[in-house]
Amino acid sequence: MDTQTVLVTGGAGYIGSHACVELLQSGYRVVVVDNLSNSKPESLSRVEQITGKSLSFYQDDIRDKKTLAEIFAKEPVTTVMHFAGLKAVGESCEQPLNYYHNNVYGTMVLAEVMNEANVKQLVFSSSATVYGESTAVQYSENFPLGPINPYGRSKAMIEDILRDLSTADNIIQTKSPWKIALLRYFNPIGAHESGLIGEDPNGIPNNLMPYVSQVAIGKLAQLSVFGDDYPTRDGTGVRDYIHVVDLVKGHTKAIAALESEKFKSGGCKAYNLGAGRGYSVFEIIETFERVTGRKVNYKIAPRRAGDLAECFANPELALKELDWKVEKNLDDMVTDAWNWQTKNPQGYA
Ligand code: NAD
Ligand code: UFG
Repeated sequence: MDTQTVLVTGGAGYIGSHACVELLQSGYRVVVVDNLSNSKPESLSRVEQITGKSLSFYQDDIRDKKTLAEIFAKEPVTTVMHFAGLKAVGESCEQPLNYYHNNVYGTMVLAEVMNEANVKQLVFSSSATVYGESTAVQYSENFPLGPINPYGRSKAMIEDILRDLSTADNIIQTKSPWKIALLRYFNPIGAHESGLIGEDPNGIPNNLMPYVSQVAIGKLAQLSVFGDDYPTRDGTGVRDYIHVVDLVKGHTKAIAALESEKFKSGGCKAYNLGAGRGYSVFEIIETFERVTGRKVNYKIAPRRAGDLAECFANPELALKELDWKVEKNLDDMVTDAWNWQTKNPQGYA
């Protein structure tokens, strides 16, 4: 079989760079399109260093239709992994138009160009944030959607647009239908075991794990634990943390599924990518202290607006249809996050 080319939007970012490693190591050619709005090209040099393979990089914005079409004309792309997007919940509340323009409009341009180039296999980075509040704490794909912020709504809108594209195939009876996997990530953390690539947040991190790492290394003084009075086992928020390397393996599994008999007639389907179990904030702190031998200085602070008490994935569908499940545990996630942090105290800078 010829080497397949995967175009990775947002490939210089945290998850995208890990996906590039996984793709190159699985024998794919990789073409990255990234405008570097939230990443550095150094991540891609590190990907090449880890894999001993090279990739093609275009520093472009996916909303630039002409340029994107030129890339598709030049590169023999068979599948797109679409990571490019803005992802900060708080920022999305302050700048909703920016989020809808980048995430929703950006995906529309990408889909138009893919349609015109007749490349109709897509793996999309969705998020558990598309689910509405539920009385159940374990989320299945058929739960109602009801995101509560512009970031989450941008992901839900994109899911709708992609589902509509797939539905339209049935009406127009095309010979080359869309094959789309909507991957709903739970909480990706950790880094590649080499410590060469990892999460490099701009400014003060919003998310728990990078915050804890930066407290442990002395860059930040103290972690605020947002609430210790939730109805959870120790009062702190419970989330389904997933190692980023496990997460990106779910993406290559998704490509395989899209190319299997199951998607022969096309389709658009959502899959949860999570471990199926949750850890509390206190459990994360305890594990971090035990694994790294460092103290994590923290204080109890008020609840953060918009946070749920507890949420984790039902990952059975991904096991059944993608043949995927997590392989790494919380100790691995913490070990690898800390390895990245200590080897790159200033990130890629
Ligand atoms: P990231 O910010 O590290 O990576 C996103 C990349 O996309 C960056 O390199 C950025 O420069 C690029 N980009 C943004 N807008 C672009 C545009 N218009 N054109 C070209 N490139 C553009 O984020 P990440 O954590 O790697 O997340 C990747 C995807 O996964 C995002 O779509 C995000 O919403 C989704 N996701 C992330 C998480 C998480 O916790 N990290 C959880 C659920 C879903
Ligand atoms: N938390 C703290 N202190 C902090 C940061 C977080 O106590 O400084 C707590 C939160 O209250 C929550 C838990 O740690 O209980 C996890 O918080 P994160 O911010 O790391 O993750 P979220 O579950 O809030 O959200 C993340 C991404 C979203 C994404 C969601 C599901 O930020 O974009 O996972 O994938 F949608």
